[in-house]
Amino acid sequence: MLQAYNPQNKDIQVFIKDRLYHRSEAKVSVFDSSVQGGDAVWEGLRIYNGKAFAFTDHVSRMQASAKTLAFTDIPSFEFIKEAIKKTLEANGMYHNVHIRLTLTRGEKITSGMDPRLNTMGSCLIVLAEFKAPVFDNEKGTTLITAHTRRNNPAFLDSKIHHNNLLNNILAKIEANYAGAGEALMLDINGFVSETNSCNIFMIKDDALYTPHADACLPGITRKKVLALAANLQIPTVIRNISLSEMYNADIVFTTGTMGELTPVTMIDGRSITNNASTNIFTRISEAYKMLTLTEGETIIEQV
Ligand SMILES: Cc1ncc(COP(=O)(O)O)c(C=O)c1O
Repeated sequence: MLQAYNPQNKDIQVFIKDRLYHRSEAKVSVFDSSVQGGDAVWEGLRIYNGKAFAFTDHVSRMQASAKTLAFTDIPSFEFIKEAIKKTLEANGMYHNVHIRLTLTRGEKITSGMDPRLNTMGSCLIVLAEFKAPVFDNEKGTTLITAHTRRNNPAFLDSKIHHNNLLNNILAKIEANYAGAGEALMLDINGFVSETNSCNIFMIKDDALYTPHADACLPGITRKKVLALAANLQIPTVIRNISLSEMYNADIVFTTGTMGELTPVTMIDGRSITNNASTNIFTRISEAYKMLTLTEGETIIEQV
């Protein structure tokens, strides 16, 4: 689904490195590592009723990604929380907010790849916007299988949540040309990995299936769904899944912070039956909704 400009975000303030800027002034240098090489890590977070959902998971994943990329000055949990609080306060934001949290390696003294050219410290960006889940979770979405394969650890480990998103963007371009909502990406062996922006699940004969997190981001929504399924005593299997199995699933759905839980109605022209005889998806969706409204790190009190 193509997102539209939301006029509520016309005058938002964005935190960059150590202070807030109006969105028209919110910029990084041409010497910044994100411009030079996509050398940055990021997280997408949601704020529900003043609370950041799965906050510790997101901050830990960002810090782990930065450690893998050998960033030398990774901001602390407290610094990140304070930067988010300042941003939400400045924007009067409390609910239905999405945050794109980025940590770049910072500015370089001259253009070039070498991280030793970065002498000015890393740069944290908190871009908070009023944004509802970006997919139509009532109608669902359609997928086409992209010929672009998802990165695996032999090339670029998908466990690093980095800003070098061209692998996913190439797949998304394929989906756009094919008139599909999103692209389904396969791993190097031809098994399903994830979509260009979300993890993927299928339900078959009252069991829940998802691929190993070898060639996909180990998503935090994925982790929450797996935990909810365990609580609800839904049999769950994590294994290689082929396209044929996806085409013949009772229900397929995607998971991610941006869109939450989204049913898939069609893959490569094959309609997914969305078999009404299983209520697993409804049970998990309702439990997830409840979780987002009850869990989370309090960042800001009611405005
Ligand atoms: C490629 C990819 N897969 C899956 C996800 C979903 O991850 P999460 O549930 O942590 O938002 C994301 C989110 O950024 C992503 O970029």
